[in-house]
Formats: sequence, C-alpha cells, structure tokens
Amino acid sequence: MDADLLIVNAGELLTLVSRGGPRRGADMDDLGLIPGGAVAVRDGVIVSVGPTDELRRTIRAARTLDAEGRVVMPGFVDPHTHCVFAGHRADEFEMRLKGASYMEIMAAGGGIMNTVRATRAASADDLVRESLPRLRRMLEHGTTTAEAKTGYGLTTADEIKMLHAIAALNREQPVELVPTFLGAHAIPAEYKGNAEAFVALVVDEMLSAVAALPDGVRPRFCDVFCEDGAFSLEQSRRILERAKALGLGLKIHVDEFKALGGTALAVQLGAASADHLVATPEDEVRMLAQSDVIAVSLPGTPFGLAHHEYTPARALIDQGGALALATDLNPGTCPCESMQFIIALACRYMRLTPAEAIVAATVNAAHAIGMGHWVGSLEAGKQADILILDVPTYRMLAYRFGTNMVHTVLKRGEMCLSGLGA
Ligand code: NIG
Ligand code: FE
Repeated sequence: MDADLLIVNAGELLTLVSRGGPRRGADMDDLGLIPGGAVAVRDGVIVSVGPTDELRRTIRAARTLDAEGRVVMPGFVDPHTHCVFAGHRADEFEMRLKGASYMEIMAAGGGIMNTVRATRAASADDLVRESLPRLRRMLEHGTTTAEAKTGYGLTTADEIKMLHAIAALNREQPVELVPTFLGAHAIPAEYKGNAEAFVALVVDEMLSAVAALPDGVRPRFCDVFCEDGAFSLEQSRRILERAKALGLGLKIHVDEFKALGGTALAVQLGAASADHLVATPEDEVRMLAQSDVIAVSLPGTPFGLAHHEYTPARALIDQGGALALATDLNPGTCPCESMQFIIALACRYMRLTPAEAIVAATVNAAHAIGMGHWVGSLEAGKQADILILDVPTYRMLAYRFGTNMVHTVLKRGEMCLSGLGA
C-alpha cells in the first residue's frame, strides 16, 4: 500500500481503539498500546497501524519519520472550552485570593458579565486576533480538536458574532473547533431581576436564529449553565428542549457548586454530555454511569478556584460510566490551555490511572463532542491527528507536570509543529 508518511519506531504507540463508542468502566484502563508501533498516513487519513516491521514490509511511503522510541498517540481532544473571548480577569483571581467567591463576584455584576462587556465591545476580527494565541498554545500542548462555546455575547447579534469568530478561527489555524451555543451562560445585567424575560429571548429568538445559520457557523450543541445564580433546572429544561427540537445536540454545566438535579436532566434529555459534576449526589452519579451521557470532568476549574472538591470520577468509572476530561479554558475559573496539566490533576485528585486519564482526554473526549467517528484514536480510516511526545512512556503524562512534553504535532497528516521542548 502507498502512503505519504510512515511514522516508525514509536516506543509506545497508543492507538486508543474503541470499537466504535467511548470506552466505559474497566475498559477505560486500556490504551490499545503497541510497543514498537508504526502508523501510515495518506491524504490526511490514517491508512494502517501496527508493529514497525510489519508496516515497513507492507507500506511504500514517500516519507518516513523515525519517532526514535518516543510515545506516539492521537492529538488531545478538549471537549469543553470557552476559548473565544476578549480581555482577562486576573484582577478577579486576586479578589478570590482575598476571600470573595466566584459566585459572589458574579452576583455583584462581575465574573462572566465582565467578559461579556469586553466581548460585546470587540468585533469578530478582534475576537479572532485575541483568541489566536490561545489556540496556538493549545496546539503546542497537543490539542488538535476542541469544542468552543459562545456565551460572552448574550444578545442575539453578539452570540452570532462569536459563532462567526469561531468559524473564522477554524479557517485560520489548525485546531479544529466544534461550536456550542451557550446563550444561557449568565443573566446579563440588563435583565437583572428579570431572568424569565432573558430565558424567553433565548428560547424564542436566539435558538432559532443560531440554528438557521449556514453550515460551518451553525452550532452543533446547545449548553446551559444550570446553577443557583445562573439558570434554574426548569429554565435549563425549557432551553434544552427547544434546542433539541431544533436538532442541536445537548450539553449542560451541572453541579459545579450546587446540585440542582441537572445531571438527571441530562440523562432524561439524552444529552451528549454533562459537564463539571462536582457536587453531584451519589444517585445521580449512578444514573449517569448507567446512561449514554458522557461525564465531562474539568479538574482545572476547582484547581483554578483553589477549591478542594473534584468530580467523583472513581465512583463513576467503577460503576461503568464513560468519563472525558477537558480544560474548561476560560478567563474566570480556568485560564489553562494544557490537557497535559488536566491529566496530571485528574490522576492526583480524582485517582484516575494514567491510562484512564489519557482515554478520557482523547477517544472519550471525541465522543463527548460528536467527533468519535473521526478523531481521538489512531486507527485506519480516522483523521491523522497525531502527537509525538518526547517521553519514553505514557505514564510520564501523569507523573510529570508543568512543562510541555509535546515534540511533534500533526493535524490532518500535516506537520504543524516539530522539535518542541522535551
Ligand atoms: O465552566 N461556570 C460557568 N462557566 C465557566 C466559567 C466562565 C467564566 O467565568 O468566564 C465554567 O467554569
Ligand atoms: Fe464551562
């Protein structure tokens, strides 16, 4: 067979093959590892995966890349980000260090609303310009596909402006973005005390407007921040039911600080994922583990807030659930682009094994954003989104932290970065 590129001599080739769905329960502890592995790419797609001697025999490649014993794996998929926004909130971080809580700052008109003001004042081009360096850092840290939420516009026009910025970013740089509409991220200041009117705007106007956008701009998912001080369970249900009727996939921010029943709602509505899951009661963890909803845990958020409670991920996996990990990259709670750091946190504070954390950051993450058929694992027929890490074993991804282990990044078979730090 002919190929454009053959990568040989991976010390460990992590294939993450998953038989078509996310890995669940005990199956999460399996990387589909091939020692001394190789992978062949043609036209941006993987055509063969196996031991190096076998692929050297069967593949005629235009170019060969020797991984020299390094780890080769799929690009990270980051399935929950707010990576498009204007400004920053470093001042609020300092306020929190002095004792103010995240939700107190939000109730006083800051928090998400601060970023909304900056984002409303920015043009779509400004948003692209400000977000490009963040996406570059994501790529440098190995993320090749990510979800990108709106939610800092909170008017129909500003939410659509964010969706256009996400579409432009998709054209201008290699990290592939899957757009999510998060019009129900906060009650904007002009609706203070009148949340119902804002919910009506989301349900009656914003959702139909964004669902009617052309391919490439239209969001794939609708998300809601279900929390005291944001949207109630009943308001979240109304918004998500409308989104479902319009053909959008569903996601929900649930139980970040307080359990309102959002996890059960995600299961009832057949959401693609339920995200955050910190204060989730045991019965809802069980319900989630037994459902097809993917649990997306965001350990960078409690870490970023200097909190001590994390997702009960061990209980979820031990009951057969499918867990994914994401950064939650955002200017408030988690200004972090690195899935490597998220893996390090997940192993320490949620007791994931290194293999479980890598599964959660690749194949399961891809399924959480409807991309599991195309990215997240190294198998014939999937897009050639490939990392070479400058480490001899995958366990380094959990054990080391705070430095970048990515050596080479390929997106759609194209070399985007090579020879990065060790
Ligand atoms: O997932 N909690 C709601 N949304 C984000 C934070 C967004 C922000 O503070 O700007 C989150 O943590
Ligand atoms: Fe979030």
